[in-house]
Amino acid sequence: MWASVCKSLALRMQLRRASVGKMPPALLLTLLLYASLQAQENSFTINSIQMEILPADRVPNGHNLTLQCLVDISTTSAVRPQHQVLFYKDDALVYNVSSREHTESFFIPQARVFHSGMYKCTVILNNKEKTTQEYQVVVQGVPNPVVTLDKKEVTEGGAVTVNCSVQEEKPPIYFSIEKVELDTKLVKQRREKNSPQNFVLMEFPIEEQDHVIVFRCQARILSGIQLQTSESTRSEFVTVQESFSTPKFEIQPSRMIIEGDQLHIKCTVQVTHLVQEFPEIIIQKDKAIVATSKQGSEAQAVYSVMAMVEHSGYYTCKVESNRISKASSILVNITELFPKPKLEFSSSRLDQGEMLDLFCSVPGTPSTNFTIQKEDRVLTRYQNFSKFAEERDSGRYVCTAAIGKVVKRSNSVQIKVCEMLSKPRIFHDATSEIIKGHAVGIACHSINGTTPITYHLIKATRLFRSVMMNSNDPATFTDKPTKDVEYQCIVDNCHSHPQLHSEILKVGVIAPVDEVTISILSSNEVQSGNEMVLRCSVKEGTGPITFRFYKEGEDRHFHEDILNDTQAFWYKKLASKEQEGQYYCTASNRASMVRMSPRSSMLTVRVFLAPWKKGLIAVTVIGVIIAALIVTAKCYFLKKAKAKQKPVEMSRPAAPLLNSNSEKVSESNVEANSHYGYDDVGNDAMKPINQNKDPQNMDVEYTEVQVSSPEPHQALGTKATETVYSEIRKADPNFMENRHSRTEGSLDGT
Ligand SMILES: *[C@@H]1O[C@H](CO)[C@@H](O)[C@H](O)[C@H]1NC(C)=O
Ligand SMILES: *[C@@H]1O[C@H](CO)[C@@H](O)[C@H](O)[C@H]1NC(C)=O
Ligand SMILES: *[C@@H]1O[C@H](CO)[C@@H](O)[C@H](O)[C@H]1NC(C)=O
Ligand SMILES: *[C@@H]1O[C@H](CO)[C@@H](O)[C@H](O)[C@H]1NC(C)=O
Ligand SMILES: *[C@@H]1O[C@H](CO)[C@@H](O)[C@H](O)[C@H]1NC(C)=O
Ligand SMILES: *[C@@H]1O[C@H](CO)[C@@H](O)[C@H](O)[C@H]1NC(C)=O
Ligand SMILES: *[C@@H]1O[C@H](CO)[C@@H](O)[C@H](O)[C@H]1NC(C)=O
Ligand SMILES: *[C@@H]1O[C@H](CO)[C@@H](O)[C@H](O)[C@H]1NC(C)=O
Repeated sequence: MWASVCKSLALRMQLRRASVGKMPPALLLTLLLYASLQAQENSFTINSIQMEILPADRVPNGHNLTLQCLVDISTTSAVRPQHQVLFYKDDALVYNVSSREHTESFFIPQARVFHSGMYKCTVILNNKEKTTQEYQVVVQGVPNPVVTLDKKEVTEGGAVTVNCSVQEEKPPIYFSIEKVELDTKLVKQRREKNSPQNFVLMEFPIEEQDHVIVFRCQARILSGIQLQTSESTRSEFVTVQESFSTPKFEIQPSRMIIEGDQLHIKCTVQVTHLVQEFPEIIIQKDKAIVATSKQGSEAQAVYSVMAMVEHSGYYTCKVESNRISKASSILVNITELFPKPKLEFSSSRLDQGEMLDLFCSVPGTPSTNFTIQKEDRVLTRYQNFSKFAEERDSGRYVCTAAIGKVVKRSNSVQIKVCEMLSKPRIFHDATSEIIKGHAVGIACHSINGTTPITYHLIKATRLFRSVMMNSNDPATFTDKPTKDVEYQCIVDNCHSHPQLHSEILKVGVIAPVDEVTISILSSNEVQSGNEMVLRCSVKEGTGPITFRFYKEGEDRHFHEDILNDTQAFWYKKLASKEQEGQYYCTASNRASMVRMSPRSSMLTVRVFLAPWKKGLIAVTVIGVIIAALIVTAKCYFLKKAKAKQKPVEMSRPAAPLLNSNSEKVSESNVEANSHYGYDDVGNDAMKPINQNKDPQNMDVEYTEVQVSSPEPHQALGTKATETVYSEIRKADPNFMENRHSRTEGSLDGT
């Protein structure tokens, strides 16, 4: 019962599918539910799917092509199920149809290259789907391109625009166009271009040799990896018109041309009315332009010249306008009248005073007019020239020979006349003596003599350096001699005289004083009365050296020696205590700077007494003491004897006198040691004024001070206080007021 209800509902649904949109949503949902139930009820299966390509999978371009998708479906249902058939080309959907048929077709009328590709089809039935394998479809051939031109007639120098197109196909298309001369079938130009459109425009220039031309076009399209090429299509003819003719030469005289003739070389050209402006005409010999036509004047150029052998050769006439250039050539042959003269000379290098001989000749020609010239100055109109050579005769010589108007120059000859060098002078630039290690400039100078001059400097028989001077200025050399040395110059130039030597220059080199040391012969401790010898020496230094001996603490030296030696001595025959002290010395020579003469280090010398002297002194001292004691004792007994005579007057003053002396010494000693405060009285007077404000207390020698630190501000009563006699300086500033008043510590309750 359920099944029949469902079936009838489903049927009604299918019939009313078109009006589904108008149904209330709840009902639609119900219906959908039914549909799926029905689908599940009837089983479907896709047995197979395949594609057929008609007429074949390779078709010529422009043929109809049909792709068929054959679907085999099995079902339990009575009616054949509705299914979707989808056609793909290179994975892109190209056709989509809903069908109940076995076969669905995709029709491509007039297949083109761009239709080539991989095709497949898919069938979808409910949620089942099946796809065929991929089938390759190849459309063979490219349609013939269409060639059109913008003109059928053109002048040289113009251009033709060619339009080549393949309307049927899709770009990109690769076009190649050839320009072909019709008569010769010669390809004159070929241009290729990949076009993003299905046509291309290319311009072809028209050249001077073009007469009747055609254009051929070919199109190439890439299908997959394969390049397909069309046939070649030909355009219409294009006829080319000349703008001007090929140039023509005209030579005068027309007979044999001999040197001295007036030669005319003329070039003419015919110009058509089509040309707006006259072309330019140029006559060239080799690379050189010898004549040109005047701009805008008649179409010819003329080269006029007196004929000489050098004018023989090929002449070219070129006519140029814009891109067009036409040329023709001609050979001009000129007969020689007489050969080139020859300049002979005695020698190309002469010493001053030697004979300079020049001779000019033309072989085989008896009567010619000659000149001999130096640079452009005529020296003689004779065939020969002689003189005593001077330096200023150096230069370039040439001669000419002339018959009538024909003048010919000889080869040129370079002649050099050399003046002998003067004896070189040698000197140096140092104002005073040369100090070792300092640079000195040695100059050599030959005042006279032709340049270039080579200077060699000889240093102690060996070549030191050479210099070439292109002027008569002195040559300078720099050296740093370390010891006395001799220099000499040797000069040389082009003159045949052998090289010249200068005088010998002796250069004295002073070594500055180095490393001054002081020493004592024997020990640093000298016995009084012995000999004492000090030595001042230098490691290096050129004499004379000034040695100076100094004793520390004394301004002036006590000894000076000027010696050609590296050491100096000072002798003291009998040394005494006076010689004890510290010694140093200085040494200087001409190379030393005045204020900074090198100085030695300090040497300490002690002088001690001989033992026998000490003994002598001891004996003397003891003797003196004994003598003193004797005198004292004698005085004492003398006084005692007198005192017995005058007991009253004399005993009183005598005793205290003795007492006070001895007591005072002992007392002061004791006090100084035991009572520091007492000793400080003297210092008190020197203290700052504010400490001695109270004049009444100036006499107070000591003060009684309450020392209550460490907490001076707290209640005094609670603290133990000490009463000490102390130096005022030690008091805390808070107790300043109490300083000079006598304070009784015990009053505070201790
Ligand atoms: C190609 O198909 C068209 C119809 O689309 C038809 O008119 C034509 O005749 C067919 N050409 C060939 C060669 O079958
Ligand atoms: C096929 O076409 C139908 C209607 O034309 C569309 O609803 C459906 O989505 C299409 N299928 C695909 C796969 O594009
Ligand atoms: C070239 O020729 C084709 C047809 O042959 C035409 O469609 C195209 O417009 C032409 N191009 C130009 C620039 O004239
Ligand atoms: C030029 O003319 C002479 C005769 O006058 C001839 O011997 C010579 O070969 C010619 N030169 C050329 C290049 O033709
Ligand atoms: C050089 O010329 C002089 C006249 O200036 C002449 O007397 C002499 O013979 C000539 N010498 C030579 C070698 O030609
Ligand atoms: C040489 O020159 C003189 C005077 O300029 C001239 O009369 C004579 O004809 C010339 N000779 C030659 C061979 O050219
Ligand atoms: C250099 O030459 C001149 C003239 O040219 C001469 O007077 C002078 O004596 C010469 N000097 C030396 C050093 O030869
Ligand atoms: C040092 O020697 C030079 C020459 O070598 C001499 O002229 C000079 O008089 C000497 N001086 C002393 C102080 O001996």
